Amino acid sequence: MHLELKGIRKSYGGKTAVDGVDLDIGVGDFVCILGPSGCGKTTLLRILAGLIEPDSGEIRLDGRDLTKVPARHRGFGIVFQSYSLFPNMTASENIAYGLKVRRQPVAAIRSRVAELLEMIGLSGSGAKLPDQLSGGEQQRIALARAIAVEPALLLLDEPLSALDVQVRVSLRRQIRALQKRLRIPTLMVTHDQEEAMEMADRIVCMNEGRIEQIGTPRELYQSPSSPFVAGFIGAINFLPGPIAARLLPEHATAPALPIGIRPESLRLAVPSGAAGELLGSVAAMSFLGGTLRVLIDVEGHDVVVVVSPEAPWRVGMVVSLSAASGAALMFSR
Ligand SMILES: Nc1ncnc2c1ncn2[C@@H]1O[C@H](COP(=O)(O)OP(=O)(O)OP(=O)(O)O)[C@@H](O)[C@H]1O
Ligand SMILES: [Mg+2]
Repeated sequence: MHLELKGIRKSYGGKTAVDGVDLDIGVGDFVCILGPSGCGKTTLLRILAGLIEPDSGEIRLDGRDLTKVPARHRGFGIVFQSYSLFPNMTASENIAYGLKVRRQPVAAIRSRVAELLEMIGLSGSGAKLPDQLSGGEQQRIALARAIAVEPALLLLDEPLSALDVQVRVSLRRQIRALQKRLRIPTLMVTHDQEEAMEMADRIVCMNEGRIEQIGTPRELYQSPSSPFVAGFIGAINFLPGPIAARLLPEHATAPALPIGIRPESLRLAVPSGAAGELLGSVAAMSFLGGTLRVLIDVEGHDVVVVVSPEAPWRVGMVVSLSAASGAALMFSR
């Protein structure tokens, strides 16, 4: 299975929602489309599903042009953000829907539905109507319905965003495990970077209708290609060149552009009085359980540093800042 998107574009009125997207998805891939609200994620997913026609561009599945193929003939499974189960059908009937449409034998449908209910841990709930199920249970049924027909591609549009944190985290793992086991190529839209990092083999980071960068979670975090990606995936400080140069021993001369430094790459110490030492004062602290986030005022610039919760700093203290060598993230724009 090889899906290719080439030069996909879509505008509404004068506004461009998707601005020339190229993307390849292969067998067993779990790809997350990550980006801020309004950047075109849902539009792109719906174009792929065949629910929206692009203004231009090509979609190919194993070389076959899908661009003009209607949604119901693409053979893709789709799960949307809000519960999209048929409200007057039981959980089992919802899961069976696509199989019935394909006129599969009744006995085969019955055993497939039982198998899917088992797979999502809801064997006892087949006879329930959607409004007798919790949000998390409904999304598991929606997922079972989408994979019942063994789709060539699974499309998920923020399937977990309406759920509370604990259910969300547990469903992330379940979806991921199921996807790996069934090896269904999956494209999931999310605006939650932690979700994307936990689930994706590859993340497609979008901004204003365009792809900013594609890579593994580690590649995007450690080598972001733009300030946007650096700021969207994880926290980052942007420091003016002259300040960064005093922080980073390897930069003898001040770089012309701001330098990005991750909060965990910075160290705090009691000032030693050495010449050139970069000093700041502790402006605020947030205890986050496993870590302490310290906001430092460095010559009028806010700098966030993440340290161990046992660190001795207090608001108002003057501290000395340093950075690990290689901590600088530099951008050409
Ligand atoms: N049917 C439509 N008519 C006009 N404009 C639209 C339509 N659908 C989407 N847009 C616009 O296209 C842009 C992209 O919308 P889209 O729904 O793809 O964003 P998104 O990345 O999914 O955002 P969110 O994270 O909020 O769901 C937005 O500016 C939106 O207002
Ligand atoms: Mg959306």
